[in-house]
Amino acid sequence: MPSQIRSYPDYTAHYTLAQQDPDAYWAEVAGRYHWFAPWQQVHTGGFLRADMQWFAGARTNLAYNCLDRHLPVLADHTAIIWESNDPREAPLHISFAQLYDQVNRMAHLLRSLGVQRGDRVCIYLPMIPEAAYAMLACARLGAIHSVVFGGFSATALADRIRDADCQLLITADATMRGNKAVPLKAIADEALLHCPGIRHCLVVQRAGIAVEMRTPRDLWYHEVLAGVPRDARVPAEEMNAEDPLFILYTSGSTGKPKGIVHTTGGYMVNAGHSFANVFQVQLQDIWWCTADVGWITGHTYLIYGPLLNGITTLMFEGVPTWPDAGRFWEVIDRHKVTLFYTAPTAIRALMAAGNTWVENKDLGSLRIIGSVGEPINIEAWEWYHTYVGKRRCPVLDTWWQTETGAIMISPMGGQPAHKPCFAALPLPGVEPVLMDPEGKEITWKPGDTIEGNLCIRNPWPGIARTTWGDHERFLNTYFTAYPGYYFTGDGCKRDAEGHYRILGRVDDVINVSGHRIGTAEVENAINEHPDIIESAVVGYPHDIKGQGIYAYVIVGKPGLPQEEIARTVNEVIVRLIGPIAKPDKLQLVTDLPKTRSGKIMRRILRKIAAGELDNMGDTSTLLDPGVVDAIIAGRQ
Ligand code: WTA
Repeated sequence: MPSQIRSYPDYTAHYTLAQQDPDAYWAEVAGRYHWFAPWQQVHTGGFLRADMQWFAGARTNLAYNCLDRHLPVLADHTAIIWESNDPREAPLHISFAQLYDQVNRMAHLLRSLGVQRGDRVCIYLPMIPEAAYAMLACARLGAIHSVVFGGFSATALADRIRDADCQLLITADATMRGNKAVPLKAIADEALLHCPGIRHCLVVQRAGIAVEMRTPRDLWYHEVLAGVPRDARVPAEEMNAEDPLFILYTSGSTGKPKGIVHTTGGYMVNAGHSFANVFQVQLQDIWWCTADVGWITGHTYLIYGPLLNGITTLMFEGVPTWPDAGRFWEVIDRHKVTLFYTAPTAIRALMAAGNTWVENKDLGSLRIIGSVGEPINIEAWEWYHTYVGKRRCPVLDTWWQTETGAIMISPMGGQPAHKPCFAALPLPGVEPVLMDPEGKEITWKPGDTIEGNLCIRNPWPGIARTTWGDHERFLNTYFTAYPGYYFTGDGCKRDAEGHYRILGRVDDVINVSGHRIGTAEVENAINEHPDIIESAVVGYPHDIKGQGIYAYVIVGKPGLPQEEIARTVNEVIVRLIGPIAKPDKLQLVTDLPKTRSGKIMRRILRKIAAGELDNMGDTSTLLDPGVVDAIIAGRQ
């Protein structure tokens, strides 16, 4: 579907309507999708009890809206372009009709393996078309998918499978990332030792490596698929708008990662609408979102957003720097990509590789380029704008979260100025509010510059509804700090013209290369190390990753060498979480700065990690202020 918001006046008209009459606005937007039955009420509930509902009573199916609905006109249009990790392997062009076939066959197979509406299916797959088939097949059957990023360890995978009580796992033998093979099936085997609820493990053959297959649990996808008729058709289940569509685990400031639950109707409407309008899509566009399918960006803007709009989406298996740092730009030229969406960490890594890789590429097909996942620094923004966008393409800095389901604040619709590093203005239906430390709304009028904690005032269709199995936790995490508002966990500035600039997390979440990591999660893992008594983890500014992980650890046995501790801590973290959570710096300390009540003063540890040593702030509440000097002396 082409965008409806094409200019700044369009934007203001939409924004005003959505503010004055949100139900009328969203009913109109939702009307562009296929519903088996209409809603009774557009929206009910709110943030006080986190009981919001959208389109309640209506019935729809997301896979139907991504596929069946398009077939009359788009059957031969390319739905997915798949680009292998290996540039010598021919890309695939999968049409909407072919995708429809594949999804139906996969759904048929899942159904024959006992998967029913409401069941949970875990997907631990690399960036291959089967990941899209699997997600859409689940959506078609009304099964709830839980995609786990392929970089997570066996323990992390097992935790997620058990938390959601998944009945089936879909994985691959291995995946190639650059010249490294990641043996997904072997990792899954280890996880499944602790997951008695998994009845079957479907294995996609991708890398062709030897794997252990345990009968009758494990099945090769290609073998069982051979028994499914080519023209197998599975009716799209009529799902209630509020039925869960998927669970996606994400990190917060405390405890284990939580399963964020998104529902069918509201998520669909929001994903489709935001995609079409933020990126000003047209039917001929070739869209490339580089995010892995294991993150929310992969869900909303690699799979669902583009397919809902009938747009060709490019899926890339590899990494930006292999075989060389020109790979992204080569792929753009090869497939004439028109819209490109990536993360600042990739931009910084490619910028550091030197301009020659990008200067000798054409990139003339590009029309709009976007950024997501973490604050973009001015150097990276300028470089992206100059070398990739050739000063021609608008750079869209899009802010949103796993919990929000879709983009919330972003330049869009021909808005005049795209100020570097500003996410600009909220999408229609989104009302951002900045809060002061006392929890009061900071008022703003043109000409004012304000800064505070970012909250959102009213529910929008795509907001997550709960955390899987624990609504209390959902309420406490997002809705108690500022009753009646959704608290994002981010700090934010608003400038004299009303534009927003996201400053990054204000809680104990760190954003490493665009991956959300909870400090508590890393500390819990480090504390499993037999020689470590206590640890504290903070983020610090990192040139490429945005934030790096700095770990302070207290070792029980004195005299153990630093390198030995660092190596074995890494091992523990890779085992319990995955390589993405390995500390960049590790410091052995004999004590941590604690208040008299035993609370670690992270503010001080963050300053030391960042090298801001001249002013430690008030240390008078510390049990032993001398600790600070000792830590500074041993700083890494
Ligand atoms: C951060 C990713 C600054 C932010 C879609 C948020 C950003 C967290 C931006 C969510 C941006 C995302 N500018 N920061 N444009 N986009 N963030 O759940 O801190 O993986 O809270 O969702 O990423 O990360 P998540």
